[in-house]
Amino acid sequence: MSKGRKKIAINTGGGDAPGLNGVIRAVVLSAYNRGWEVYGIHDGYKGLLDLEEITHLTPLNVNDILPQGGTILGTTNKGNPFEMPVKNAIGELEYYDVSDRLVDNFRRLGLSALIAVGGDGSMDIALRLHKKGIPVVGVPKTIDNDLSSTIVTFGFDTAVTTATEAIDKLHTTAKAHDRVMVVEVMGRYAGWIALNAGVSGAADAILIPEIPFDMDHVCNHIKGGELQKHHYAIVVVAEGATPAGQGMMYTEEAKEGRQEVRLGGIGHWVANEIKERTGKDTRCVVLGHVQRGGSPTTFDRLVATRFGAAAVRAVEKEQFGHMVALDPPQVKYVPLEEALERMKKVPMDCDTVLSARDIGICFGDE
Ligand code: F6P
Repeated sequence: MSKGRKKIAINTGGGDAPGLNGVIRAVVLSAYNRGWEVYGIHDGYKGLLDLEEITHLTPLNVNDILPQGGTILGTTNKGNPFEMPVKNAIGELEYYDVSDRLVDNFRRLGLSALIAVGGDGSMDIALRLHKKGIPVVGVPKTIDNDLSSTIVTFGFDTAVTTATEAIDKLHTTAKAHDRVMVVEVMGRYAGWIALNAGVSGAADAILIPEIPFDMDHVCNHIKGGELQKHHYAIVVVAEGATPAGQGMMYTEEAKEGRQEVRLGGIGHWVANEIKERTGKDTRCVVLGHVQRGGSPTTFDRLVATRFGAAAVRAVEKEQFGHMVALDPPQVKYVPLEEALERMKKVPMDCDTVLSARDIGICFGDE
């Protein structure tokens, strides 16, 4: 294939995030307008191992997908080619490095580049494949917003909007019953969703992984509200929030190729503690995957489109081993190594935390 006419592949890996289809659409349209071909790899990196799972994508496949949640290519958080789980003869899982097969397939297909869309796990795999000679460009996605080298990832704004709308609805029922409503939101080890949705949804308390909390402080805050004739309360709890001195709560170990534990349980634990300590009627709502679903917000559609187009420009410039990142007003390219250096956590002194404290929101630490 001539240098000018490229044949590129795109995959989406890890948990889905609203905006993935926007990236796919932008990649296909930008490539098509350059006279290139695009192949969609299904289910993360898995489609490059079982070659049946590859689709030639044209503008016809993507024209109407921008407002759609999910991903037309499918995704998985169990498809790491460097640690692929395979059942042995007695049904136990063994892990194999099958990355050479993936690299061979990539070459046999005559592909010029891979645009890998995913979170930290997918970017780590992208980096390892790049080191094995695959020309990769990364596109960051995660509702958790925990990638450090980009101001924001698409999917986050939609998740925060969904969580805020849910909190708005919980205010009215909490007030009608004089109840405490505890809302558990996603975010893994970062508290961005809880913080932004909690402030935007006028929560009374926000508990995040970055600030270990003490139930005495949370309950005193709720009791203080009672004295001011505020008989209901909203407590937003990030799934990774921890009581001081304790570890994160989870419902399932990392297993069967899944890299991480499944977080959960803290919302119910907090609700139970509040009920026991204050006597208030308390309920817990776990928002869960609702936050990952549905149509992306305008902001996420825009970021997704800009990321997809920027990734194609990176392929054109042969700027491989890099990840696109939002650095307003620009989209920039960051080496994958640098992008993976550290997780972006909520800084204690960030303006949103300071403002939340100023208006009297409790973080459970004082
Ligand atoms: O990383 C995105 C995320 O939605 C986290 O917020 C959450 O902990 C996790 O994925 C849930 O993963 P799964 O879809 O495998 O349950």
